[in-house]
Amino acid sequence: MPPKFFPTHGHLLVCQGPNCQARGSALLHKALWNHLERQSLAYYKRGGTLRLTESGCLGACSYGPALCVYRPDPGGAGLEEAWYAAVDFPLAARVAQATHDRAPLPAEHRYGPDPDA
Ligand code: FES
Repeated sequence: MPPKFFPTHGHLLVCQGPNCQARGSALLHKALWNHLERQSLAYYKRGGTLRLTESGCLGACSYGPALCVYRPDPGGAGLEEAWYAAVDFPLAARVAQATHDRAPLPAEHRYGPDPDA
């Protein structure tokens, strides 16, 4: 029997590479997990829709902590991706909430693919 599959609104990854760890990404990941737990946003909570994973280097080493999120494109087919640099807890929490709400993602500290391209 396969494992239970939990449909989600998105997947957040927080870099745990050495440069981001030097800028507090371990604490950021832990704080974000605690937040997802307390607010019942984690995928395994009733009503929760988010996955959160530690990642290896995301390629923004001089600008960490780095975070990226993948989610089904709210505007159509495919996958939306958003990348963030110099992430602190309040920004990470806003990204998580917007992903959960299927709302537009915050623009501050965002880099990478132009969402309007
Ligand atoms: S160590 Fe985090 S982006 Fe490279």
